[in-house]
Amino acid sequence: MALSGNGIQSTQELLDAQSHVWNHLFNFINSMSLKCVIQLGIPDIILKHGKPMTLSELTHSLHLNDAKSPSLERLMRIMIHSKFFINVKISQVEETDGYWLTPASHLLLRDEPSSMRPFALVLLDPILIDPWHHVSKWFKSDHDLTPFLTTHGRTFWEYAAQDPRLNCFFNEAMACDTVLVASVITGDCRNVFEGLKSMVDVGGGTGTVAKAVADAFTGLNCVVLDLPHVVAGCEGTENLVFVAGDMFEYIPSADAVFMKWILHDWPDEKCLKILEKCKQAVSDKDKKGKVIIVDIVVDFQKEHKAIETQLFFDMLMMNVASGRERTEKDWAELFFAAGFTSYKITPVLGLRSLIELFP
Ligand SMILES: C[S@@+](CC[C@H](N)C(=O)[O-])C[C@H]1O[C@@H](n2cnc3c(N)ncnc32)[C@H](O)[C@@H]1O
Repeated sequence: MALSGNGIQSTQELLDAQSHVWNHLFNFINSMSLKCVIQLGIPDIILKHGKPMTLSELTHSLHLNDAKSPSLERLMRIMIHSKFFINVKISQVEETDGYWLTPASHLLLRDEPSSMRPFALVLLDPILIDPWHHVSKWFKSDHDLTPFLTTHGRTFWEYAAQDPRLNCFFNEAMACDTVLVASVITGDCRNVFEGLKSMVDVGGGTGTVAKAVADAFTGLNCVVLDLPHVVAGCEGTENLVFVAGDMFEYIPSADAVFMKWILHDWPDEKCLKILEKCKQAVSDKDKKGKVIIVDIVVDFQKEHKAIETQLFFDMLMMNVASGRERTEKDWAELFFAAGFTSYKITPVLGLRSLIELFP
Protein backbone atom coordinates (compact mmCIF):
# COMPACT_ATOMS: atom_id res chain seq x y z
CA MET A 1 0.00 0.00 0.00
CA ALA A 2 1.14 3.54 -0.71
CA LEU A 3 -0.06 6.86 0.64
CA SER A 4 -1.22 9.57 -1.77
CA GLY A 5 -2.76 13.01 -1.19
CA ASN A 6 -6.22 11.46 -1.51
CA GLY A 7 -5.68 8.71 1.00
CA ILE A 8 -4.38 5.18 0.79
CA GLN A 9 -4.22 3.56 -2.65
CA SER A 10 -2.81 0.24 -3.72
CA THR A 11 0.60 0.30 -5.39
CA GLN A 12 -1.03 -1.06 -8.56
CA GLU A 13 -3.51 1.85 -8.61
CA LEU A 14 -0.66 4.34 -8.29
CA LEU A 15 1.36 2.64 -11.03
CA ASP A 16 -1.70 2.62 -13.32
CA ALA A 17 -2.30 6.29 -12.57
CA GLN A 18 1.35 7.05 -13.36
CA SER A 19 1.11 5.25 -16.74
CA HIS A 20 -2.09 7.16 -17.46
CA VAL A 21 -0.35 10.49 -16.83
CA TRP A 22 2.76 9.48 -18.84
CA ASN A 23 0.57 8.51 -21.78
CA HIS A 24 -1.21 11.84 -21.71
CA LEU A 25 2.08 13.73 -21.47
CA PHE A 26 3.43 11.82 -24.46
CA ASN A 27 0.38 11.90 -26.74
CA PHE A 28 2.07 14.66 -28.75
CA ILE A 29 4.82 12.18 -29.70
CA ASN A 30 2.22 10.19 -31.64
CA SER A 31 1.16 13.31 -33.54
CA MET A 32 4.69 14.51 -34.21
CA SER A 33 5.95 11.07 -35.28
CA LEU A 34 3.01 10.95 -37.69
CA LYS A 35 3.95 14.39 -39.01
CA CYS A 36 7.55 13.25 -39.58
CA VAL A 37 6.41 10.13 -41.47
CA ILE A 38 4.19 12.28 -43.69
CA GLN A 39 6.85 14.92 -44.30
CA LEU A 40 9.38 12.24 -45.27
CA GLY A 41 6.75 10.75 -47.60
CA ILE A 42 7.25 7.24 -46.19
CA PRO A 43 3.79 5.83 -47.14
CA ASP A 44 4.26 6.96 -50.78
CA ILE A 45 7.77 5.51 -50.93
CA ILE A 46 6.63 2.11 -49.62
CA LEU A 47 3.66 2.04 -52.01
CA LYS A 48 5.91 2.96 -54.96
CA HIS A 49 8.27 0.13 -53.99
CA GLY A 50 5.34 -2.22 -54.62
CA LYS A 51 6.29 -4.78 -51.97
CA PRO A 52 7.37 -4.76 -48.29
CA MET A 53 10.46 -2.61 -47.87
CA THR A 54 13.44 -3.41 -45.67
CA LEU A 55 14.98 -0.82 -43.38
CA SER A 56 18.03 -0.41 -45.59
CA GLU A 57 15.87 -0.02 -48.73
CA LEU A 58 13.80 2.61 -46.95
CA THR A 59 16.90 4.44 -45.67
CA HIS A 60 18.33 4.43 -49.19
CA SER A 61 15.09 5.61 -50.86
CA LEU A 62 14.84 8.48 -48.39
CA HIS A 63 18.45 9.48 -49.26
CA LEU A 64 19.32 9.40 -45.54
CA ASN A 65 22.80 9.07 -44.12
CA ASP A 66 23.27 5.40 -43.05
CA ALA A 67 23.96 6.64 -39.52
CA LYS A 68 20.26 7.65 -39.33
CA SER A 69 19.07 4.12 -40.07
CA PRO A 70 18.76 3.04 -36.39
CA SER A 71 16.71 6.17 -35.67
CA LEU A 72 14.48 5.47 -38.66
CA GLU A 73 13.96 1.97 -37.29
CA ARG A 74 12.80 3.48 -33.98
CA LEU A 75 10.41 5.85 -35.76
CA MET A 76 8.97 2.91 -37.72
CA ARG A 77 8.72 0.83 -34.52
CA ILE A 78 6.44 3.33 -32.80
CA MET A 79 4.42 3.76 -36.00
CA ILE A 80 3.97 -0.02 -36.23
CA HIS A 81 2.83 0.03 -32.62
CA SER A 82 0.30 2.73 -33.59
CA LYS A 83 -0.94 0.55 -36.50
CA PHE A 84 0.31 2.83 -39.30
CA PHE A 85 2.59 0.12 -40.72
CA ILE A 86 3.03 -3.62 -40.35
CA ASN A 87 6.13 -5.76 -40.41
CA VAL A 88 5.96 -8.50 -43.02
CA LYS A 89 8.39 -11.45 -43.30
CA ILE A 90 10.14 -11.13 -46.65
CA SER A 91 12.42 -14.14 -46.51
CA GLN A 92 12.21 -17.08 -44.09
CA VAL A 93 15.79 -18.03 -44.92
CA GLU A 94 17.45 -14.73 -44.07
CA GLU A 95 14.77 -13.80 -41.53
CA THR A 96 14.30 -10.37 -43.10
CA ASP A 97 11.28 -8.22 -42.40
CA GLY A 98 9.84 -5.45 -44.53
CA TYR A 99 7.52 -2.52 -43.81
CA TRP A 100 4.12 -2.45 -45.44
CA LEU A 101 1.08 -0.16 -45.32
CA THR A 102 -2.11 -0.45 -43.23
CA PRO A 103 -5.55 1.12 -43.93
CA ALA A 104 -4.45 4.11 -41.76
CA SER A 105 -1.28 4.79 -43.77
CA HIS A 106 -3.25 4.47 -47.04
CA LEU A 107 -5.06 7.60 -45.84
CA LEU A 108 -1.70 9.43 -45.72
CA LEU A 109 -0.84 8.84 -49.38
CA ARG A 110 -0.39 11.90 -51.56
CA ASP A 111 -2.66 10.69 -54.39
CA GLU A 112 -5.36 9.01 -52.34
CA PRO A 113 -8.57 11.04 -53.04
CA SER A 114 -9.67 11.00 -49.38
CA SER A 115 -6.13 11.47 -48.09
CA MET A 116 -5.84 12.96 -44.61
CA ARG A 117 -2.31 14.17 -45.41
CA PRO A 118 -3.30 17.83 -46.01
CA PHE A 119 -5.36 17.77 -42.81
CA ALA A 120 -2.44 16.43 -40.79
CA LEU A 121 -0.11 19.06 -42.21
CA VAL A 122 -2.51 21.90 -41.33
CA LEU A 123 -3.38 20.64 -37.85
CA LEU A 124 0.27 20.00 -36.97
CA ASP A 125 1.60 23.24 -38.49
CA PRO A 126 3.10 25.66 -35.93
CA ILE A 127 0.33 28.16 -36.81
CA LEU A 128 -2.24 25.78 -35.31
CA ILE A 129 0.02 24.17 -32.71
CA ASP A 130 1.26 27.43 -31.12
CA PRO A 131 -2.16 28.45 -29.71
CA TRP A 132 -2.21 25.27 -27.59
CA HIS A 133 0.66 26.79 -25.58
CA HIS A 134 -1.55 29.78 -24.73
CA VAL A 135 -4.82 28.19 -23.65
CA SER A 136 -4.37 28.98 -19.95
CA LYS A 137 -3.38 32.58 -20.78
CA TRP A 138 -6.53 32.83 -22.92
CA PHE A 139 -8.68 31.50 -20.04
CA LYS A 140 -7.49 34.44 -17.96
CA SER A 141 -7.99 37.08 -20.68
CA ASP A 142 -11.34 38.86 -20.82
CA HIS A 143 -11.38 39.94 -24.43
CA ASP A 144 -9.80 37.35 -26.77
CA LEU A 145 -12.31 35.09 -28.52
CA THR A 146 -9.92 32.18 -28.95
CA PRO A 147 -6.40 31.04 -27.95
CA PHE A 148 -5.65 31.42 -31.70
CA LEU A 149 -6.42 35.14 -31.40
CA THR A 150 -4.40 35.42 -28.17
CA THR A 151 -1.43 33.88 -29.99
CA HIS A 152 -1.63 35.44 -33.44
CA GLY A 153 -3.53 38.68 -32.81
CA ARG A 154 -6.06 37.81 -35.54
CA THR A 155 -8.80 35.26 -36.11
CA PHE A 156 -8.14 32.06 -38.03
CA TRP A 157 -10.23 33.35 -40.97
CA GLU A 158 -8.26 36.63 -41.04
CA TYR A 159 -4.99 34.69 -40.94
CA ALA A 160 -6.12 32.44 -43.83
CA ALA A 161 -7.17 35.48 -45.87
CA GLN A 162 -3.71 37.05 -45.41
CA ASP A 163 -1.48 33.96 -45.69
CA PRO A 164 -1.78 32.14 -49.06
CA ARG A 165 0.10 29.10 -47.70
CA LEU A 166 -2.39 28.56 -44.84
CA ASN A 167 -5.32 29.34 -47.15
CA CYS A 168 -4.13 26.78 -49.69
CA PHE A 169 -3.33 24.06 -47.09
CA PHE A 170 -6.64 24.60 -45.32
CA ASN A 171 -8.77 24.53 -48.48
CA GLU A 172 -6.96 21.41 -49.65
CA ALA A 173 -7.52 19.74 -46.26
CA MET A 174 -11.24 20.56 -46.39
CA ALA A 175 -11.53 19.32 -49.98
CA CYS A 176 -9.87 15.97 -49.14
CA ASP A 177 -12.10 15.46 -46.11
CA THR A 178 -15.10 16.20 -48.25
CA VAL A 179 -14.42 13.53 -50.91
CA LEU A 180 -15.63 10.67 -48.67
CA VAL A 181 -18.54 12.72 -47.31
CA ALA A 182 -19.61 13.61 -50.86
CA SER A 183 -19.60 9.98 -51.95
CA VAL A 184 -21.73 8.94 -48.94
CA ILE A 185 -24.28 11.71 -49.31
CA THR A 186 -24.72 11.23 -53.06
CA GLY A 187 -24.88 7.44 -52.56
CA ASP A 188 -26.49 6.31 -49.29
CA CYS A 189 -28.33 9.62 -48.77
CA ARG A 190 -29.59 10.26 -52.34
CA ASN A 191 -33.16 10.62 -51.07
CA VAL A 192 -32.13 13.76 -49.12
CA PHE A 193 -31.43 15.60 -52.42
CA GLU A 194 -34.07 14.07 -54.68
CA GLY A 195 -36.64 16.59 -55.94
CA LEU A 196 -34.49 19.65 -55.18
CA LYS A 197 -34.10 22.18 -58.00
CA SER A 198 -31.59 24.47 -56.30
CA MET A 199 -29.08 24.28 -53.44
CA VAL A 200 -26.61 26.71 -51.85
CA ASP A 201 -23.51 25.20 -50.21
CA VAL A 202 -22.80 27.85 -47.58
CA GLY A 203 -19.09 28.02 -46.71
CA GLY A 204 -18.66 25.38 -49.41
CA GLY A 205 -14.92 25.99 -49.80
CA THR A 206 -13.61 25.09 -53.22
CA GLY A 207 -16.80 23.19 -54.05
CA THR A 208 -16.03 19.48 -53.61
CA VAL A 209 -19.48 18.61 -52.21
CA ALA A 210 -21.35 20.92 -54.56
CA LYS A 211 -19.52 19.46 -57.58
CA ALA A 212 -20.38 15.91 -56.51
CA VAL A 213 -24.04 16.86 -55.89
CA ALA A 214 -24.25 18.83 -59.17
CA ASP A 215 -22.81 15.82 -61.08
CA ALA A 216 -25.07 13.31 -59.33
CA PHE A 217 -28.25 15.41 -59.83
CA THR A 218 -27.94 17.16 -63.18
CA GLY A 219 -31.31 18.93 -62.76
CA LEU A 220 -30.12 20.59 -59.55
CA ASN A 221 -28.50 24.04 -59.77
CA CYS A 222 -25.84 24.53 -57.11
CA VAL A 223 -24.28 27.70 -55.73
CA VAL A 224 -21.13 27.65 -53.59
CA LEU A 225 -21.00 30.66 -51.27
CA ASP A 226 -17.68 31.35 -49.56
CA LEU A 227 -15.26 34.16 -48.73
CA PRO A 228 -13.56 35.94 -51.68
CA HIS A 229 -10.06 34.52 -51.07
CA VAL A 230 -11.48 30.97 -51.01
CA VAL A 231 -13.55 31.05 -54.22
CA ALA A 232 -11.08 33.20 -56.20
CA GLY A 233 -10.09 31.20 -59.29
CA CYS A 234 -12.75 28.46 -58.77
CA GLU A 235 -14.51 27.57 -62.01
CA GLY A 236 -18.16 26.59 -62.16
CA THR A 237 -19.94 24.23 -64.55
CA GLU A 238 -23.31 24.27 -66.30
CA ASN A 239 -25.18 23.71 -63.02
CA LEU A 240 -22.64 25.07 -60.51
CA VAL A 241 -21.60 28.66 -59.77
CA PHE A 242 -19.23 30.14 -57.19
CA VAL A 243 -20.30 33.28 -55.35
CA ALA A 244 -18.00 35.34 -53.13
CA GLY A 245 -19.92 36.62 -50.11
CA ASP A 246 -20.47 36.72 -46.37
CA MET A 247 -23.01 34.24 -44.97
CA PHE A 248 -23.77 36.66 -42.10
CA GLU A 249 -24.96 39.22 -44.67
CA TYR A 250 -26.80 37.25 -47.34
CA ILE A 251 -27.57 33.68 -48.36
CA PRO A 252 -29.14 33.30 -51.84
CA SER A 253 -32.63 31.82 -52.00
CA ALA A 254 -32.79 28.07 -52.83
CA ASP A 255 -34.78 24.88 -52.19
CA ALA A 256 -32.02 23.76 -49.83
CA VAL A 257 -29.08 25.21 -47.95
CA PHE A 258 -26.22 22.80 -47.32
CA MET A 259 -23.61 23.41 -44.61
CA LYS A 260 -20.79 21.04 -43.83
CA TRP A 261 -18.56 21.87 -40.89
CA ILE A 262 -19.86 25.45 -40.69
CA LEU A 263 -21.93 25.75 -37.51
CA HIS A 264 -19.32 23.99 -35.35
CA ASP A 265 -16.96 26.89 -36.16
CA TRP A 266 -19.20 29.43 -34.41
CA PRO A 267 -20.68 30.23 -30.99
CA ASP A 268 -24.46 29.96 -30.51
CA GLU A 269 -25.25 33.64 -31.14
CA LYS A 270 -23.44 33.56 -34.52
CA CYS A 271 -25.06 30.22 -35.42
CA LEU A 272 -28.46 31.75 -34.72
CA LYS A 273 -27.70 34.54 -37.22
CA ILE A 274 -26.58 32.03 -39.87
CA LEU A 275 -29.60 29.79 -39.26
CA GLU A 276 -32.01 32.72 -39.48
CA LYS A 277 -30.48 33.66 -42.87
CA CYS A 278 -30.79 30.00 -43.93
CA LYS A 279 -34.44 29.94 -42.92
CA GLN A 280 -35.13 33.06 -45.01
CA ALA A 281 -33.25 31.53 -47.97
CA VAL A 282 -35.31 28.31 -47.97
CA SER A 283 -38.68 29.93 -47.11
CA ASP A 284 -38.67 32.71 -49.74
CA LYS A 285 -41.90 33.12 -51.73
CA ASP A 286 -43.84 30.64 -49.57
CA LYS A 287 -41.36 27.91 -50.42
CA LYS A 288 -40.86 25.17 -47.81
CA GLY A 289 -37.34 24.02 -48.36
CA LYS A 290 -34.83 22.57 -45.93
CA VAL A 291 -31.39 23.02 -44.47
CA ILE A 292 -28.98 20.09 -44.67
CA ILE A 293 -26.20 20.09 -42.07
CA VAL A 294 -23.17 17.82 -41.80
CA ASP A 295 -21.64 18.16 -38.35
CA ILE A 296 -20.88 16.20 -35.19
CA VAL A 297 -23.72 15.33 -32.79
CA VAL A 298 -21.72 14.55 -29.67
CA ASP A 299 -22.49 11.11 -28.23
CA PHE A 300 -25.57 10.68 -30.48
CA GLN A 301 -25.03 6.95 -30.66
CA LYS A 302 -24.41 6.03 -27.04
CA GLU A 303 -21.24 4.04 -26.41
CA HIS A 304 -19.89 5.51 -29.64
CA LYS A 305 -16.20 4.57 -29.83
CA ALA A 306 -15.51 7.90 -31.44
CA ILE A 307 -16.50 10.04 -28.44
CA GLU A 308 -12.87 10.92 -27.68
CA THR A 309 -12.35 12.14 -31.26
CA GLN A 310 -15.53 14.22 -30.98
CA LEU A 311 -14.17 15.79 -27.79
CA PHE A 312 -10.83 16.48 -29.55
CA PHE A 313 -12.78 18.32 -32.25
CA ASP A 314 -14.64 20.26 -29.57
CA MET A 315 -11.35 21.43 -28.05
CA LEU A 316 -10.02 22.29 -31.52
CA MET A 317 -13.08 24.45 -32.18
CA MET A 318 -12.60 26.22 -28.83
CA ASN A 319 -8.95 26.82 -29.64
CA VAL A 320 -9.18 27.94 -33.23
CA ALA A 321 -12.62 29.15 -34.10
CA SER A 322 -14.72 30.07 -31.02
CA GLY A 323 -17.10 27.29 -32.02
CA ARG A 324 -18.06 24.03 -30.34
CA GLU A 325 -19.32 20.53 -30.95
CA ARG A 326 -22.93 20.08 -29.86
CA THR A 327 -25.08 17.35 -28.33
CA GLU A 328 -28.55 16.70 -29.75
CA LYS A 329 -30.00 18.86 -26.97
CA ASP A 330 -27.69 21.78 -27.89
CA TRP A 331 -28.64 21.45 -31.57
CA ALA A 332 -32.36 21.25 -30.84
CA GLU A 333 -32.22 24.44 -28.72
CA LEU A 334 -30.44 26.28 -31.54
CA PHE A 335 -32.81 25.02 -34.25
CA PHE A 336 -35.97 25.96 -32.36
CA ALA A 337 -34.53 29.34 -31.32
CA ALA A 338 -33.90 30.09 -35.01
CA GLY A 339 -37.57 29.34 -35.80
CA PHE A 340 -37.31 25.87 -37.32
CA THR A 341 -40.09 23.42 -36.43
CA SER A 342 -38.49 19.99 -36.82
CA TYR A 343 -35.26 18.15 -37.56
CA LYS A 344 -34.04 14.67 -38.41
CA ILE A 345 -30.61 13.31 -37.51
CA THR A 346 -29.12 10.49 -39.62
CA PRO A 347 -25.80 9.19 -38.25
CA VAL A 348 -24.33 7.96 -41.53
CA LEU A 349 -20.93 9.63 -41.54
CA GLY A 350 -18.90 8.00 -38.77
CA LEU A 351 -18.09 10.77 -36.32
CA ARG A 352 -20.50 13.13 -38.02
CA SER A 353 -24.21 13.06 -38.79
CA LEU A 354 -26.42 14.42 -41.53
CA ILE A 355 -29.12 16.65 -40.07
CA GLU A 356 -32.16 17.80 -42.04
CA LEU A 357 -33.82 20.90 -40.70
CA PHE A 358 -37.33 22.05 -41.66
CA PRO A 359 -38.88 25.52 -41.30
C1 LIG B 1 -14.43 24.39 -41.76
S1 LIG B 1 -14.49 25.07 -43.35
C2 LIG B 1 -15.63 23.99 -44.18
C3 LIG B 1 -15.50 24.03 -45.68
C4 LIG B 1 -16.42 23.06 -46.42
N1 LIG B 1 -17.83 23.26 -46.06
C5 LIG B 1 -16.00 21.65 -46.14
O1 LIG B 1 -16.49 21.05 -45.17
O2 LIG B 1 -15.13 21.13 -46.86
C6 LIG B 1 -15.46 26.54 -43.08
C7 LIG B 1 -15.69 27.35 -44.35
O3 LIG B 1 -16.48 28.51 -43.99
C8 LIG B 1 -15.99 29.60 -44.76
N2 LIG B 1 -16.39 30.86 -44.11
C9 LIG B 1 -15.90 31.40 -42.95
N3 LIG B 1 -16.54 32.57 -42.70
C10 LIG B 1 -17.43 32.76 -43.71
C11 LIG B 1 -18.36 33.80 -44.01
N4 LIG B 1 -18.51 34.85 -43.19
N5 LIG B 1 -19.11 33.68 -45.13
C12 LIG B 1 -18.98 32.61 -45.97
N6 LIG B 1 -18.11 31.59 -45.73
C13 LIG B 1 -17.34 31.67 -44.61
C14 LIG B 1 -14.49 29.36 -44.75
O4 LIG B 1 -13.83 30.12 -45.73
C15 LIG B 1 -14.41 27.85 -44.97
O5 LIG B 1 -14.38 27.53 -46.33
